[in-house]
Amino acid sequence: MKIVSIVGARPQFIKAAAVSRLLRERHREVLVHTGQHYDYEMSGIFFDGLKLPRPATNLGVGSGLHGAQTGAMLKGVENVLLAERPDYLLIYGDTNSTLAGALAASKLSVPVAHVEAGLRSFNRRMPEEINRVVADHLSDLLLCPSDTAVQNLAAEGITRNVHFVGDVMLDVLNWAKQRLATNPPGILDRLGLMKQRYLLATVHRSENTDDMARLSQILNAFNLLEEPVVFPVHPRTRKVITDARCRIERHVRLIEPVGYLDMLGLVGAARMVLTDSGGLQKEAYWLGVPCLTMRDETEWVETVEAGWNALVGSDSEKIVEAVHVFAPSRPRPDLYGDGFAAERCVDLLG
Ligand code: UD1
Ligand code: UDP
Repeated sequence: MKIVSIVGARPQFIKAAAVSRLLRERHREVLVHTGQHYDYEMSGIFFDGLKLPRPATNLGVGSGLHGAQTGAMLKGVENVLLAERPDYLLIYGDTNSTLAGALAASKLSVPVAHVEAGLRSFNRRMPEEINRVVADHLSDLLLCPSDTAVQNLAAEGITRNVHFVGDVMLDVLNWAKQRLATNPPGILDRLGLMKQRYLLATVHRSENTDDMARLSQILNAFNLLEEPVVFPVHPRTRKVITDARCRIERHVRLIEPVGYLDMLGLVGAARMVLTDSGGLQKEAYWLGVPCLTMRDETEWVETVEAGWNALVGSDSEKIVEAVHVFAPSRPRPDLYGDGFAAERCVDLLG
């Protein structure tokens, strides 16, 4: 079979690292990068660090308003599909690249396979929620990371070709853990950090960055903490912090976004993770690091039910208090599969 895979944003490069290699053992893959993320720290670093095959095409779409960005991708992906005439289009997650892929393929009657199908926050103000709902309803093969995702789809009447496969991010994490065991990342030394003696933070969700009141509350919480806060800053957030000249105390260490292995090194050695990222909530869980999610809801409800993740919203006081008292001691059941999700995805495609 010939399969066109669409990637464009940071978490998609990581997910594709699990699937792409296996896919190419059995099928012909045409990897298309939409160009949604383009800085080296947001894109190239993952192709280098995860040994991902180079994309056959980069549409070079870049940043823009949702309509303009998605529209440019739609046009670009349509051209690729007309030229390649694949048997399947493979999409990942919930970004604008995911949405554009699903729309372009379904209009050309190219079957769509969606990795990470069925996630819901039930918050339609999130751009990602719109992308997920549309992508799932246009997909022919729905590859779910959790039972909750399967149930979410059933509640929307989607029951055909829905499969629980597990989370491909766990496959990548297991691969990375092996690498890190023999080749520990030097990032802790480079940053002068000691294990368990710092907090790791990321913030990029539009509900937090586009709302100055929420972002100020979050940054204020970081400023009020006594421990070092290591904060690899997404370019979207960097722009707001710079433009608004936000006050940042010295113990809050703003650094450039880092590569995947460095990031796992930072997560694994942190005392706690504070984030609004989807991927990071799961990585903290798998690595046994308590996580505070600075949102009002999460798609990864199992991590909260297990007691290792807490929703703290954006209120300064609530965040600071949780950093002081949140200390899960409960067991961590295996969540999101067994680390062989990519194999199942490829089997089901075949
Ligand atoms: C996107 C996804 C989000 C995902 C995130 C992963 C959508 C709607 N959102 O959000 O679901 O969690 O990627 O990181 O698809 N920028 C740069 N350089 C880059 C990329 C972005 O400077 O290489 C800046 C630009 O100012 C841009 C802004 O970041 O306008 C936002 O980028 P965009 O890709 O639109 O959305 P993300 O916030 O990255
Ligand atoms: N990540 C990374 N470097 C960073 C920040 C995040 O490698 O500086 C990784 C992180 O470990 C996870 C993924 O990127 O695997 C999550 O991406 P992001 O938070 O951008 O998107 P989301 O998961 O929220 O869609």
